[in-house]
Amino acid sequence: MKYKNPNLTMKTTMLILVLFIFTACEKKVNPFPDHMGSKIFQGQQNAKVNCANCHGDLGGGGMKAPNVAKAVKNLTAEQFSGIVMNGKGSMPPFADTLKEEEILEILDWLNKLPS
Ligand code: HEC
Repeated sequence: MKYKNPNLTMKTTMLILVLFIFTACEKKVNPFPDHMGSKIFQGQQNAKVNCANCHGDLGGGGMKAPNVAKAVKNLTAEQFSGIVMNGKGSMPPFADTLKEEEILEILDWLNKLPS
């Protein structure tokens, strides 16, 4: 009969569990950090514009605002620029701080992110 150490089996199970939790909690990284849209979104281009402050670094949403990485997949470019220029609810308007091309850069970057 094969000898099995139950303690060792337990330890192995625990180790696998811990590794699994670590992988699941791994912080998402920006797949396109040099994208112009990413820089604008995260406030590296213009200090007055920081979408990430409310929507999270990768647009995944947070306490203050919804997940825009997901929302853009259901918005046309016109709808997206309309919201960004005019604001929505407690979101301020950016018509004075962003150009149309910049808004489209943000949209392009958000569309490339996994939602
Ligand atoms: C002060 C916080 C704040 C900032 C800064 C901000 N937003 Fe928002 N945003 C919100 C909130 C809150 C909503 C939800 C509004 C509602 O539905 O009432 C929202 C909604 C949106 C939506 C619509 C989402 C949907 O489900 O239709 C888009 C798109 C969006 N924001 C993009 C941006 C972009 C791009 C920027 C940067 C240029 C930005 N936001 C900056 C707070 C913010």
